[in-house]
Amino acid sequence: MLFTDVIRTKRDGGSLSGEQIQFFVDGLADGSLPAEQVSSLAMAIFLNSMSFEEAGLLTSAMASSGTVLDWSKENLDGPVVDKHSTGGVGDKVSFLLAPIAAACGCFVPMISGRGLGHTGGTTDKAESIPGYNATPDFELFRKVVREVGCAIIGQTEDLAPADRRFYAIRDVTGTVESVPLITASILAKKIAAGLDFLVMDIKLGNGAFMQSPERARELANSIIATAANANLKTHALITDMNEVLGTTVGNALEIRESMQYLRNEVREPRLDDVVMSLCAEMVFVSGIEPDREKARARCEQAVSSGKAAEVFARMTAALGGPGDFVDNYDAHLASAPVTRAVYADGVLTAVNTRAVGNAIIELGGGRKKVGEQLDFAVGFSDFASIGSELDKNRPLAVIHAASEDATANLLNACQTGEIAPEKRVVISDILTG
Ligand code: URA
Repeated sequence: MLFTDVIRTKRDGGSLSGEQIQFFVDGLADGSLPAEQVSSLAMAIFLNSMSFEEAGLLTSAMASSGTVLDWSKENLDGPVVDKHSTGGVGDKVSFLLAPIAAACGCFVPMISGRGLGHTGGTTDKAESIPGYNATPDFELFRKVVREVGCAIIGQTEDLAPADRRFYAIRDVTGTVESVPLITASILAKKIAAGLDFLVMDIKLGNGAFMQSPERARELANSIIATAANANLKTHALITDMNEVLGTTVGNALEIRESMQYLRNEVREPRLDDVVMSLCAEMVFVSGIEPDREKARARCEQAVSSGKAAEVFARMTAALGGPGDFVDNYDAHLASAPVTRAVYADGVLTAVNTRAVGNAIIELGGGRKKVGEQLDFAVGFSDFASIGSELDKNRPLAVIHAASEDATANLLNACQTGEIAPEKRVVISDILTG
């Protein structure tokens, strides 16, 4: 088969056969397809989309391009359940939710992604913890999940390797925002992870890949239906991404905010709502609690009792990070040499969240090219939420940069006015298929 014929089929609006999709996935996984042909097909799919059947075939081919985990041999005394987000700015939910869910009785083998487009990646954030091994072998991964209850890792060499390569190429070729490609990318990893249940966080808004409620629902329904065909029961929450989630953006800064949350010191209300709603859905969908209210109370108890923080500490140590990380996170995390507050006047009325995500890339906290090293320390802290009054005592945010001349034009990304806009709902929908 000639790969140029596969590209032409999709370029001309046709449907790819199972054989063509398998040929593509094999070439991704073994590296034989050059990046220019992969990106050409990615753009053709982006422009002409894929049918539900094609997306299903791509999902299962990518899921079985490497090892598929089987937890049944581990004799776990709870459900194997995970959450995955479609990507946002300041989205540190995984670091909170995984230990909370584990403290509630779930087993969470979380295989996360690196930064994609303007969005940050959980794997990159995890690697800002010194010593943390985000790509352990399966033996260690299984051991940590079994003994601690959760392990947050990145995609290893042999887990959905076709998606790993495709994801890195899509990241730098403007081909991320496609319903079938996002569906296949997320579910390939989740099916390979051997989950019993999945909860999706479908981000909606100007910092998300899906910018209209219709597109967000389309993606949620595509993921739920494709997952059902693979026997993976999935619920999806549509959550707001029209501003930074929490108060920080940037790898180490987000880990710092996560530690303050788990220690029950600072819980920014919107972040708290997203974490608790998603986590409660995991506890509910997997049958640990019979309804969402009881599930949420159980999650709340996991934080207030300190149990979730303890789980995070054990997970971090088991994966090679410092044994005292939760107690002494500030001493372990990199901090930037230059910090500078950015001031504005008036009420913060809107944020161009994608521009904030792109500003992180400019600062060195995200990638412009495949494989680039990141500066974990850079980013923004103290980011004001929409509706906040800004003045000389309350900055818009604090920039953390590698040098004095680093630029991050935050003022262009934010609007101020005289009147606070109406409050937006944080969780706009729950879809259960
Ligand atoms: N997360 C993924 O894993 N893949 C995508 O394509 C988008 C978000």
